[in-house]
Amino acid sequence: MKKIPLFFLIFSLFFNESLQNCAWDSCHEPDPDPNVITAHLIPHTHDDLGWIKTVDQYYWGAKPELVPVGVQYIYNTVIDELLKNPERRFSFAETGFLWRWYSSNGDSERHQLQRLVKTGQIEIIGGGWVQNDEATSHYIDIIDQMTLGLQKLSQIFGECGKAVTGWQIDPFGHSREMANIYAQMGYKSLYFARIHYLEKELRLKNKTLEFNWSTSDDLETKLFTGAFFNDNYGPPEGFCWDTLCGDDPIMDNEYMEGFNVDEKVDAFVAHVKKQAAHQATNQVMLLMGSDFQYTNANTWYVNLDKLIKYVNADSSKKVKVIYSTPACYTKAVEKQKPTLSEKTDDFFPYASGNHSYWTGYFTSRPAFKGMIRRASSMLQLAKQLDVIADLGPEDDSDVEILRQASALVQHHDAVTGTAKENVTRDYEKQLARGMSEVEVVINDFMKKMNPGSLNSNLVLCPLLNETICTPVKDVDNFTVVIFNSNGRCFNGTIRIPYGNPYADVKGANNESLNYQIEETFQVNQLKNENRSKYEIHVYLRVPQLGYTTITVEKIDKPEESSKKNMDVGPFQIGNEFLTAGFDAQGYLSYVIDKTNNVKRSIRQEFFYYEGVDSKDDQPSGAYIFRPKAQQPIALSSQLTLEIKKGSVVNEVRQKVNQWVSQVIRLPKGKNYLEFDWIVGPIPKEARYPITKEIVTRYTTDVHSKNQSFTDSNGRQAIERFYDGATSFEYSDTEPVAGNYYPITSFGYIKDGRDQFSIITDRSQGMAASNGVVEIMIHRRCFYDDHFGVEEALDEPGRDGTGLVAMGKHIALFTDLATSAKQLRPLVLETFHAPVLAFSANQNLDKFRFNRKPEYSGLKEELPPYLHLLTLEKWHKKLALIRFEHIYHDDGPQSDPYAKAEVFDEKEIFTNFDIDVSKLLLLGGDRDREPPKFRWYRIKNGRVTIQSLPFTIEPSEIRTYECELERK
Ligand SMILES: *[C@@H]1O[C@H](CO)[C@@H](O)[C@H](O)[C@H]1NC(C)=O
Ligand SMILES: *[C@@H]1O[C@H](CO)[C@@H](O)[C@H](O)[C@H]1NC(C)=O
Ligand SMILES: *[C@@H]1O[C@H](CO)[C@@H](O)[C@H](O)[C@H]1NC(C)=O
Ligand SMILES: *[C@@H]1O[C@H](CO)[C@@H](O)[C@H](O)[C@H]1NC(C)=O
Repeated sequence: MKKIPLFFLIFSLFFNESLQNCAWDSCHEPDPDPNVITAHLIPHTHDDLGWIKTVDQYYWGAKPELVPVGVQYIYNTVIDELLKNPERRFSFAETGFLWRWYSSNGDSERHQLQRLVKTGQIEIIGGGWVQNDEATSHYIDIIDQMTLGLQKLSQIFGECGKAVTGWQIDPFGHSREMANIYAQMGYKSLYFARIHYLEKELRLKNKTLEFNWSTSDDLETKLFTGAFFNDNYGPPEGFCWDTLCGDDPIMDNEYMEGFNVDEKVDAFVAHVKKQAAHQATNQVMLLMGSDFQYTNANTWYVNLDKLIKYVNADSSKKVKVIYSTPACYTKAVEKQKPTLSEKTDDFFPYASGNHSYWTGYFTSRPAFKGMIRRASSMLQLAKQLDVIADLGPEDDSDVEILRQASALVQHHDAVTGTAKENVTRDYEKQLARGMSEVEVVINDFMKKMNPGSLNSNLVLCPLLNETICTPVKDVDNFTVVIFNSNGRCFNGTIRIPYGNPYADVKGANNESLNYQIEETFQVNQLKNENRSKYEIHVYLRVPQLGYTTITVEKIDKPEESSKKNMDVGPFQIGNEFLTAGFDAQGYLSYVIDKTNNVKRSIRQEFFYYEGVDSKDDQPSGAYIFRPKAQQPIALSSQLTLEIKKGSVVNEVRQKVNQWVSQVIRLPKGKNYLEFDWIVGPIPKEARYPITKEIVTRYTTDVHSKNQSFTDSNGRQAIERFYDGATSFEYSDTEPVAGNYYPITSFGYIKDGRDQFSIITDRSQGMAASNGVVEIMIHRRCFYDDHFGVEEALDEPGRDGTGLVAMGKHIALFTDLATSAKQLRPLVLETFHAPVLAFSANQNLDKFRFNRKPEYSGLKEELPPYLHLLTLEKWHKKLALIRFEHIYHDDGPQSDPYAKAEVFDEKEIFTNFDIDVSKLLLLGGDRDREPPKFRWYRIKNGRVTIQSLPFTIEPSEIRTYECELERK
C-alpha cells in the first residue's frame, strides 16, 4: 500500500464529512412553543423482498395481475418528486431493493439518488438487506444480512449511508436480541408496529409507546424504542394518497366542486391531538406510506405539500406539520428529555386479536427453514475458505451469491414460511444456487492449498439428509473430505451413504477409523431410488477451522455385524455416557447417566392438533396457530421398532404410522440423545380437509413449574411463563397457541437441580409447562388465515402428495452447575455441522497425490468460551473477523463461565497473521472506539488499533477489520 501522510488522511476525512449533510443533520425544526404539537410526516414505502410475488417480480413490476406494483418505479418517481422541492423528505429501507435499483441504473440516476441522501432529503433506515424476521432468523444470519446491507450503503453513500434508525415495522413480534444487535451496531432508535394487543392497550393508556429497551443483561445496552400509535405502519385514516388508496385528495380551489380543505385540516388536527394524548412528548410521528406505495410519488407529495401548507397556515390549531424522517423525529423527542420507562423482556408471542396468535409461523415450512440454516452454515465455511486460501475474484463472487441468497431469505415473509408457494420455490432456487457455488469454492480452496495436486472434483450432495448422494451411489471406493467451520474441533459421528454392506474406512493418515455400517432406515415417506441401501456411521475428529479426509473401500469379508434384534418387552440401548430405557411399546421412558447413576424419567411422543378451519373467521394458517381443542391427539401407540446396537451407533428406529417415523440415537462419545424425526406427507382428506399441526412432546421429571426458557435468535435465553406474560396481564383466550414461543436454536426447562434442554437444527415453536417441552415440527394448513398471503399452507412436496420434512432434536439432561458449559458449545457445534464433500475417484492413491489429507486454519482450538463468528473478506483486501464470547449471564448456573476473559494468543491462524486491525461496531461500518491517541500506531499509512490481546465480556462480540500478513 502507498504511504499517505497522516495529515492528508485527517484532512480528507474532515473535508468529506463537511460535504455531507445527512438526513439527521438537516431536519426541519419542530415548533419551539411547548403548546404546539409538531406532526412529523414520514413519507416511506414498505417493500417486501418477496411475498405474493417473487423479489424480482416486485422489483420490475412483473405479474401486475397479482399486485400492480414495481419497486423500480418507486425509486424513480420518489427521486423526481424530491428534486422538485428540497423541503420534501423520504425514507428508504430494504437495501436489497436499493441495490437492485442502483445496479440497474446509469450514472446520472445514481448520482441523483446519492445527492438526495447526502443533502439529507432521503434517510436510509433499517440498513439491512431485508427487514429480517425476529422469531425465526438466527443471529449469525441477522448479523450477516445487516452487514451486507450496511456495506453496500457505505459503498454508495459514505457517511450518510450508515443507518441510525432500526426499522422493523412489519415483523410479527420483536426479539430482545434483534434490538441488542441494533444497539451494538450503533443505532440510535428502533421502530415497529406490531405488538401484542394487550400490551398495546396498556402502553396507549400509560403513554409508554416509547421506552428504553434494555437489550442485554451482560452488555447493559439500551435502545430507544417506539411502537407506532396505529396498529400498522400506514397513515391516519383519510390521509392515504397513494394510487393504491381510495382517499380523497385535498381539493383547494374554492371555485371548483369538492373543496375540502377545512374538512381535511380539521380531521387531520383531530387525529394529531388524539395521538398526542397517548405520547410522552408533543412530537407525533405519522407514517405517510405503506406496502409498495409511491409507485407514483406525485399523488402523495402533491397532497402532503398542501396538508403542510393549510395546517400551518392556521396557527390557532396549535399543530405544526413538517416533512420529517425517523431520525429527525427521534432527535426531536430526545430534545424534550421525556422520562422513559424501561423494558427488559421481548415481544413474543405477538397477537393481533384474542384468537389471532402469530405462533404458527415459528414452524411453517419446516423443510425450507432447515435448508436456510444449512445454507447459513455453509456460507460461513465458504467465507472462511475464501480468506484462508486468499481465493480470487471469481470465488469472491461465488461467495457473494450465497451471501445475498442467505440474506434474502431472512426476510420476514421468507424464513417465516409466510410467502406464497411459488415465491418460496424462488427462494429455494436462489439458496440452492448459492449453496452449489460452495462446491466451486471448496474445489478452488483445495487446489490453492495443495499446489501441484490433481483436480479434486469434490461434489456436495444436497440431499445427504435423505441418504442420497448420486455421484457415489454405485461407487465402491471413494474419498470424503469433511470440513469443519467451527473454531473448535469436531469429535463425533458423520453418516455416509453407501451401496454395500461391507467396507473399510480409513482416516487421513491411513489409520483405521471406528465405524459401523447399517442398513438405511427404510420408510415409505422417503421412497427414492437414489437412496443408498446402507449408511456408514464414522466416528472421527475434524480439526478446528479445517478439514480431514477419509477413504471408503469396498471389502468382501464381513465385518462383525451389529446385532439386529426385535426385542420384545422393555429394552435398553447405551453408549459410554448414557443408558436409554424403553418400555414394552417401544417408547423412551428413562435415561441413566452412567457417570453418576442418576436416573431421569423422560417420555417422548408425537401428537397433532387439528387447526381451526374457514368456518370460523380466524382459521389456523401460515401465520396463525389456532387449534380446535386444547388437548392434542396422540399418534398411534403401536410402534414398529428396529434396534441397532454397535460400537458407533446405538439407535431405536420407530415407525409411528404411515407418515411419522423417528430414530432415537445415543451417538458415540456424547452424553445426549438425538431424535431424528421424519414427518409427512401429512394426510389431506378429499373433502373438507382438516388442518394438522404436528408436535413432539418430551415429558420429564424436571419440576419446572410454569417457568421455561427460549433462546432469542440463538443467543440470550429469555424467561417464559406458562399462562403468564411479563409486560401485561395474560389472558387465556388461546390456551395453547398463546403459550408458544419461538426457538431458533434451543429451549430449556429447569428446577433447583436439573436442566432439560432441546437443541434444534432449524427454527420452531415451543411451549413448556411443568416438566413438559412441546415443540411443533410440521404443519399443513388447508385454509388461509386472512393476513394477506391468500393461500393455504398446503405444501405439495416433491410428488404432490404433501411435504415430507425431517430434522433433528438434541435432548440433554444436565445438572444445573454444568448446564451452560454443556449447552452453549453444543449449540454452536450443531450450527457448524460438518460439511461433506465427495470425490468419486476410484483411485484413492491418486486422490491423495500431493494433497494434505488434513488441515487446520487455526493453530490451536479456540478456548471454549470463544466463537469465531466471522472470518470473511472485507473491502480493500482486508478481512473482517468477529469473536464472540459464547456465555451469557443466564442465572447462577452460568456464573463461572459468564465472565470477562483475556485472549492473548497473538498468532492464531495457520496461513496468516493479523497484522494490524481496527475495532469496529458490530455492523462493520463504523468505528467502535473513539480514537485514543496512545493506542494508535501507524503502519503502511493506516491508522490502527492493535487487536490482540483483548478482553472480551460475556456475550460480547468483537468485530475487527484486519489487514492480514500472509505466510
Ligand atoms: C403501565 O402502568 C402501570 C401502572 O403504573 C405499570 O404497573 C405498568 O408496568 C405499566 N406498563 C407498561 C407496559 O407501560
Ligand atoms: C406457480 O408457478 C407455476 C409456474 O410458473 C404456474 O404454472 C402456477 O400457476 C403458479 N401457481 C400459482 C398458484 O400462482
Ligand atoms: C476398490 O478397492 C478394493 C480394495 O482395495 C479393490 O479390490 C477394488 O478393485 C477397488 N475397486 C475399484 C473399482 O477400483
Ligand atoms: C433435505 O435437505 C434438502 C436441502 O436442504 C431439503 O430441500 C429437503 O427438504 C430435505 N429433506 C427432508 C425430507 O427434509
